Amino acid sequence: MKILAIETSCDDTAMAVVECNEDFQNLQTKLLANVISSQTKIHAKTGGIIPNLAAREHEKNLVPVLKETLKQARLKIKEIDLICVTKGPGLQPSLLMGLNFAKTLSYIIKKPIIGTNHLLGHIFSNFIKNDGTFKNEIKLPAVCLLVSGGHTQLYQIESWDEIKLIGETVDDASGECFDKIAKILKLNYPGGVAISKIGESIRLKNKNQKLEFNLPKPLINSKDFNFSFSGLKTAVLYLVQRLKKEKKFNKRIIQKICFETEEVITEVLTFKSMKLAKELNAKTIMIAGGVSANKRLRSKFIEKIGDEFDFVCPDKLMSTDNGAMIAIAGYYEYLRGKKDDCLTLEVDPNLII
Ligand code: KG4
Ligand code: ZN
Repeated sequence: MKILAIETSCDDTAMAVVECNEDFQNLQTKLLANVISSQTKIHAKTGGIIPNLAAREHEKNLVPVLKETLKQARLKIKEIDLICVTKGPGLQPSLLMGLNFAKTLSYIIKKPIIGTNHLLGHIFSNFIKNDGTFKNEIKLPAVCLLVSGGHTQLYQIESWDEIKLIGETVDDASGECFDKIAKILKLNYPGGVAISKIGESIRLKNKNQKLEFNLPKPLINSKDFNFSFSGLKTAVLYLVQRLKKEKKFNKRIIQKICFETEEVITEVLTFKSMKLAKELNAKTIMIAGGVSANKRLRSKFIEKIGDEFDFVCPDKLMSTDNGAMIAIAGYYEYLRGKKDDCLTLEVDPNLII
């Protein structure tokens, strides 16, 4: 079965072709094509995504990305057996572009379509190996930390049919917090990447770099498994304002703020994930979503977990939005009997698992 997946939930126009057998437990799969057209340069100008602008870019990119994807896969569109497309959650104007494109394709080539959950896609990105094959070797029960530009959530996974949301951010997502702090510091978009690069350079220069600014770790000691990141963003804003007034705001200070921001965010994320994993007697802690590409987050998990749990993270290219993860999640739903209709399928910007 050859699956074409289309992902346009945010600012990347991504497509993939995946070839699968029909057994999810023993999934034998190969990634035949994976194409991502990034809009980073466009949104760097505004320091964040303007949804209508993102949608216009998707409109320009969809046909060339499809052409390139089919070329990479060495297939004609008629050879595709199933179309999986992100139906939500995400930015409505962006989702509409991808969904409408996919529905039209499905109608023309007369092949089934599955409206796929982007969050499930991120979780399933952990099945995709570096060499483009797929393997589901994750030991359950697992705890999954899903951290992206729009989400910061903790899931309990008892089986792949029982994925239960246990906690989530009550305000900003962790990726959003990275992006907003980067904007305050006038760093490049996407902020998570910029902050992480600077944080890493500080860490390399001084292994024992101390935390100086006492930034808050919101909700770290709360009894539930929720997160909050807007207070951290505000604390950095006030800190920058004060340092500017005192004429102490310089490149070195910016570097230290990046280092400390990354330390604080990764501390809260790892602490709460570990706490949940212990409480649930989980065998595995897995991470997913754009922020899971963060090197410090990965190294902190590895340090803290030791051999208490298995630690699973996606290949870095698969952490951020991509088509392959949508193919796997959509295919999973297809095998479970999900059927969508290309005449009636609709986007759902607030879709949950
Ligand atoms: O999953 P994703 O590609 O899109 C959404 O579904 O939101 O995640 C994008 C988010 C952005 O906020 C970006 O700043 C963050 O992931 N991000 C990172 C890193 N790479 C991307 N955050 C921290 N460290 C990184 N290396
Ligand atoms: Zn995403």
